[in-house]
Amino acid sequence: MQNALINVNGQILKPEEAKVSVFDRGYLYGDSLYEVARTYNGAFFRLDEHLARLEKSAQLCRMVLSQSTADYKREILRTAKAFWEKSPGVELYCRIIVSRGEGRIGLGLSSLTSPTLYTIYLLPLEEPTADKIQKGLSLQLSPRWRNPPKALPAAMKSGNSLNSLLTYLEATADGYDDALLCDFEGAVAEGTSFNIFYVKNGMLITPSTDIGILAGITRDLLVQLARRQGLRVREVRFPASRLFEADEVFATSSMKEVYPVTRIDGKPVGCPAHAGKPGPLTLKLREDLRAHILETLT
Ligand code: PDD
Repeated sequence: MQNALINVNGQILKPEEAKVSVFDRGYLYGDSLYEVARTYNGAFFRLDEHLARLEKSAQLCRMVLSQSTADYKREILRTAKAFWEKSPGVELYCRIIVSRGEGRIGLGLSSLTSPTLYTIYLLPLEEPTADKIQKGLSLQLSPRWRNPPKALPAAMKSGNSLNSLLTYLEATADGYDDALLCDFEGAVAEGTSFNIFYVKNGMLITPSTDIGILAGITRDLLVQLARRQGLRVREVRFPASRLFEADEVFATSSMKEVYPVTRIDGKPVGCPAHAGKPGPLTLKLREDLRAHILETLT
């Protein structure tokens, strides 16, 4: 079993001891929400923002959380402390899942027999090697749509991952690392688990949140950081063809930070000077983001 600690509703357990009911609505219906955060030098980055987004997801999902975000934070920190007592100095991957709880079979909330249930997973963080960053991501432009917001809002970080999961499985079966999704009108939306940017003539362009994407915490930070550096940033709708004319393309997420995209649908990305290789602004922003994170850790 993995070197991991799991907190189930306040009980810190080894993975093999952690159990959730077969009547849990996360299992029955994907009726759950989640967040993913990580540590830098033993401190969680933007944990409050992740928990605030969890609360926002709960509102979108009509889920009444049984704990406050302060309770979740306290439990994450308590579990991390227990992890580091056994394995000091290990950087952590943290996933918190909140399910609507246990219930009898049936969609209605009158079937519920328990308050919301949370599980916190702490695992050693796996960071990409410099070689992997240099290679960048080879993405498929998926023929699948991103969930239209009127079907299932992508702004809600839900445990119902089948839209992204199927997209990912199809792309990797075809030999790609991952995939990008467009909305039903062909506007680029986001990746299966990351936001997307392209660079053209020194300007950063990223899909606007009204397209139906997750408002990424890394995306938001990068937009602020780039504007502070005097770079122009536009949040707009654009067709996938723009990515093939871009100078650079990159992905952002809490796990990927700023991550070069070097191929899309098998074609090298970027201007001729660095086609198929990470772009210079991408690599600079990756470093700047890391430096900013380390400077602002609390
Ligand atoms: N994914 N878009 C989607 C669909 C995501 O699932 C994520 C996060 C992001 C980036 O969000 P942030 O910058 O706040 O991490 C965008 C996490 C990392 C995951 O599912 O593992």
